[in-house]
Amino acid sequence: MNARRPPRIAPSILAADFAHLGAQVREVVDAGARVIHVDVMDGNFVPPFSMGPQVCSALRALDLDIELDVHLMVERPERHVADFASAGASNITIHAEATPHVDYALQQIRELGCTAGLAVCPATPLDIYREVVVDLALCMTVNPGWGGQAFIPTSLHKIARMRALLRDGPELEVDGGIDATTAGPAAEVGATLFVAGSAIFGADDPAAAYTEIAAAAGCSQP
Ligand code: DX5
Ligand code: ZN
Repeated sequence: MNARRPPRIAPSILAADFAHLGAQVREVVDAGARVIHVDVMDGNFVPPFSMGPQVCSALRALDLDIELDVHLMVERPERHVADFASAGASNITIHAEATPHVDYALQQIRELGCTAGLAVCPATPLDIYREVVVDLALCMTVNPGWGGQAFIPTSLHKIARMRALLRDGPELEVDGGIDATTAGPAAEVGATLFVAGSAIFGADDPAAAYTEIAAAAGCSQP
């Protein structure tokens, strides 16, 4: 059995100032971040539109030592994964609710050289994780589509059940309402990768906010 992964924080650029995206990403990387979370919304699986592969390419052009963690909130993600892999994604996560071809999409992501993640919305049962192999499991701790929502408290029980199901192998990512108060409890029940958008880029000092959340999640010092 694999060992549990060390905790890491993934700042979500959904909450960043897009006019200064490069500077904002450099700021959290200088503070120790090594994973940047890219939220892709198609105006269909979730109502808003957000960003596409061009943003991944632009982040890669910064030439930073980062992983790009792409969260596809799009219908039929299998039709889009190649574009994100070519644009420099490290991990691509699809939603269990977004396609009848989950296993095919995950296999495709791996064949493209990325790690493969599978996300579930708050109301989605966990049984699907018994049926497929994932590198990363993403527990939505809000309903997907918008930043700045409050962490759903019953998520803690779901994260614990997910961790028990997955054992220690895959990364267990939590996304939505993560800040310095919710990261610690989520870590205690087994989360290892913590997405934080508004708690970092909505703060007056994003680097300080990153450091505070990282400490709460139990990350070692950069
Ligand atoms: C929401 C996105 C999140 C979002 C989190 O659907 O998947 O990644 O950026 O935002 P906060 O951290 O503000 O809840
Ligand atoms: Zn996300």
